[in-house]
Parts: sequence; C-alpha cells; structure tokens
Amino acid sequence: KYNLFHRQFGLFLSKCKILTKQSCRQVSHEQKQQIKKVIPFLDMINTRRDQARKSILVQVQSTESFKELHSYCNSLGTVNQTFHYTTGAEQMNFIIIEFTRESNVTSVINNSLHLNKDQGFPVHSNFLWFKASNRKSRLKLHNCQLNKENGNKIPTSSEIREFLQTKNDISEQIEGLYNLTKLNEVATRLRFLTTRQIELSVAGMFPHAIAYPFGSSVNGFGKMGCDLDIVFQLTSECLAKEDSRLVFHCKAINSYERSVTQRHMEVMGDLLQLFLPGCTQIRKILQARVPIIKYYQQFTDVECDLSMSNMSGVFMSDLLYVFGLIDSRVRPLVFVVRKWAQEVGITNNSPGRWLSNFSLTLLVLAFLQKIGTSPLVLPSINTILKQSGTGYNSVSENESSFIQNIALSQYRSSNTDSLEKLLKQFFNFYSSFDFTTKAINLNEAITITKPEYNALYIVNPLERGLNVSKNVSQEELEKFKYELRNASWSLESQEKENSNWGILDILQTKKKVATNYFNFPKQERLMEVSKLFDEEKEKKSNYSKTSSENA
Ligand code: GTP
Ligand code: MG
Repeated sequence: KYNLFHRQFGLFLSKCKILTKQSCRQVSHEQKQQIKKVIPFLDMINTRRDQARKSILVQVQSTESFKELHSYCNSLGTVNQTFHYTTGAEQMNFIIIEFTRESNVTSVINNSLHLNKDQGFPVHSNFLWFKASNRKSRLKLHNCQLNKENGNKIPTSSEIREFLQTKNDISEQIEGLYNLTKLNEVATRLRFLTTRQIELSVAGMFPHAIAYPFGSSVNGFGKMGCDLDIVFQLTSECLAKEDSRLVFHCKAINSYERSVTQRHMEVMGDLLQLFLPGCTQIRKILQARVPIIKYYQQFTDVECDLSMSNMSGVFMSDLLYVFGLIDSRVRPLVFVVRKWAQEVGITNNSPGRWLSNFSLTLLVLAFLQKIGTSPLVLPSINTILKQSGTGYNSVSENESSFIQNIALSQYRSSNTDSLEKLLKQFFNFYSSFDFTTKAINLNEAITITKPEYNALYIVNPLERGLNVSKNVSQEELEKFKYELRNASWSLESQEKENSNWGILDILQTKKKVATNYFNFPKQERLMEVSKLFDEEKEKKSNYSKTSSENA
C-alpha cells in the first residue's frame, strides 16, 4: 500500500511539475505582451525629443574629468542623468549630460565661451568640450556614478558568434541576436541629439522647426550603428492665436515646390559644411527623386540622410513601430532576416538594384500576416488603421496621421509558433513564392496579381499606386531566391555537434555560398544564373501573354 501510494504521489508530483512548466511558458508569452507598456510612436518621439532638448554633449579628455564636469554643470542647473561613450580612432571620450529642465541647457550655452578665432567659427551649439582646470581638483565624490563602459559600442562579429554559441536552441539565438545588437539607450539618445543640432542651427529664424528622425533609428528595427534618416520641416504650427494683430513679414515663394526644396537643401548643406561642429563628409544629392544630404556626425558617430520633403517616411516608421509592438516575435525575426541578408550579400549599405532593408522588412511582415502563417501573427494595415481610428487614405502632414490608440489586446494572435519555426517557415514560404505573377499587399494582407511587371512587387502601403521594391532587378531577385533555398536547406539539415549550429550557420553563409556557388568556376556560375534567368524569362513571357489575353 505504501509503495503504491508512493508511486502515485510521485506520479502526481511529476504531473504537477509538467503542468507548472507548461503554464509558466504560456504565462510568460502572454505576460510579455501584457507587461509591455504601449507607448504610441508620436509619444515616444516627443519624449526622446524632450530628453534631447534638455541635454548637451560634452567631450572630455578622459573619464577622470567626470566629477569636475558634473559639479560644474550642477552649478548651472540640475543634472538628471549622464551617459559615457567613446568614438573615433583616437577613442575620444564624450559624456551626454541630461538636465532636469531645458532652461538649464540655455544657461549652460550662455555660460560657455569660444576660445579664440583660430579655434574655429564662433557657433553656439549643444556640442561642447570641457576645458581642463589649472587648479588641482579637490572635489569630493558626489553621489554620482559614471558607467565607464563605452555606451555606444557595436558588438563585433566574433562577440556575436561567441554569444550565440552559448544559447540552447535556435529561438534563443534569434532572441539573443536581437537583444545584443538592437539600438541601446545611448545610441538612441545620440540620434536625437543629432536631430536637435539641426533644429538649433536655424532656431533664430524657425523656432518651431522640427527635425523628425525616421527609419530604423526609431521604428524598432534599428541595430547599433544603423544610419539616421531625418526629415527636416522648417515650418510648423504657429503658437499665436488667429486674432493676433501682428503678422510676420515673409519672403514670397515664387518657384515650383521641388526647386524650392532643392534650394533649401543646398542652404542646409552649406550650413552643415561651414558652421555645424562635428558634421563632416557632406554630400548633396539634390537630383534624386527625394533630394537628400548625406553627412557624418563624428561626435555622435552617426551617418545621416537629411531630407526636407514629405513626412511619408515618418508615418511609415510609425506603422512599422506598431507592427513591432503587436507581437514580441516580430522584431527578433526581422533582425535575424536582415542580418542573414546582409551576411549573404542580398542587401547592401548603398542603394541599388538589390533588396533594401525596408523591402525586406515588409516581406517579413507580409509573411507574418495571413499570407505566410496560419493562424496569422499580424493583422492587415487596414485593420490596424480602422481599429485605431487613424485615417491614412493619403499621406497628410499633420499629427492626426499618427497612430495614437493601439489596443494590443485586439490583435493578440493565437499563433504560438516558436521563432525557430517562424524563421524556417519564412525561408520556405518565399522559396516557393510566385514572384512572377504575384504582388504583396500589406494593406489587405493578401497577394494580388501584379499591376505591372517589376521583378519584385510590394505595394507601397501609403501610396498604393507605387511599388516599394521597383528598384530590384531580376538578377538580384534570383540571388534572393537562391539564398532563401540555401538557408532553408541549412537550417533543416544541421548536425547538433557542429559549433556553427543554428543561425550561426546561415549567418556565415558567405563562406558556405563560396563553396556552393561562388567557388564554382566562373563559367558554371554564369550557367547556373542564366538557367534561373531563362526560367524566369519564360514565366515572364507567359505572364505577359495571359495578362494580354485577359485584357
Ligand atoms: P537601415 O537604414 O538599412 O537600417 O533601414 P531603414 O528602414 O532605415 O531603411 P532606409 O534608411 O533605406 O529608409 C528609411 C525609411 O524610409 C524606411 O524605414 C521607410 O520608412 C522609408 N523608405 C525607404 N525606402 C522607401 C520606399 O521605397 N518607399 C517609401 N514609401 N518609403 C521608403
Ligand atoms: Mg535608415
């Protein structure tokens, strides 16, 4: 009797253990969704801009100067937070100082000096350096600590590899890659300080001008070291009441909008070049569809693309940001796909006839909508806009275009697939996707027949008559498909004992491809590509025939 009881009790206990484990797993997935505080995109942007307005960037000789600097700044205002990082080949030391009030920054700037004319043009800005004191400092330790780690450090490839090797499974690796490489607090603050510098440069004439960061720096898909896309709007809401009797004198605008923008961009380019500290390598690309100025801000270590045309990039970032909030698997999955694409050479930092990171992100999101997974992980864009009461019929230029009401509970998916499963499904899904006749439409979460022949067709969610991936050539699409199959095959046929297990294998595919593909003699390689090309040409001509017959 005792033995029977003992065995049954043991059985009962182990069942309890299994149930507890299961419920813990479920709770943790659901809790992840619930605990996350939902901050709408515009609120996040405004909070960050507010931090930047209250902050200055100070170059110091070494972290030893921190106590003195802290004490000096505290004599001019109240220091709230500090962050340290180093940059450049000489490992210049910088400290971000955030005060409690914006007026403290004004006070600091008013109390700062220009050494002499030889030191450069006497510009006032939020970027400063701390002069060493002649007197020996007798400062006692304040109640302040500086993290002496470089807060803006980009993990190296070998650090990433070593980190991923310690993980237990592919899902953990994907999550780990995301956590290790995503933009951190310091890098985010540096991007907002960089946009603040642009606003301050014209603050005298345009006190309400706003430089909005957009793209991966703010949409939740940014990794350490990513570029900063900025759209600079000179005009913004006037605070005065309509019945004000005094009206500003202004210069007339008498050319086409595009040429006005180009002229303004030219002036901004000159301002950056001549006056703004830290702005280097300025390149004006004014004839492009969207005129931009590229530059490198060496103090914040950020590559910037400055534009002055419309806000569609910002609204697009808002949409992507919301997609990332809806399900905690979205961002890690996009990260691993983007990293894979970079490693195998499907994407490239410079724009061209290859896939952009933006198009690739949309492909992942479309896959997570109805078209790739069952049950769906993400809703359609139309559903999000309808349920949040946002009208995106056309891109408008006011704040009502931002998504404000995000009730995440409405979108909770019953799909509980692991990240590993989703990644494998992603590769399989697009390996056999009919790119020849189908276009991807995220607004309705469906595939549609291509309205016109481009190798890859992704309907622009904000301007639906346009194709986001019009730039992608047939050859690059073939490369993409080839790599999809390669990655799918790698993940399915892995041996656990291999040190390059899991995503490590597909993240070094360059080497693998080298054995599979690029190491072929050139002639064979060309034959392989031209075979794929011929197949695709045939499909294309069949497609044109059927569409003209249908027409
Ligand atoms: P990385 O800079 O590569 O990290 O990613 P990103 O998302 O910032 O891409 P990129 O800098 O190329 O573009 C910045 C933003 O501009 C994107 O996130 C989109 O919001 C927008 N964008 C880029 N390409 C297009 C396009 O072809 N059409 C539209 N409508 N928007 C685009
Ligand atoms: Mg970008």
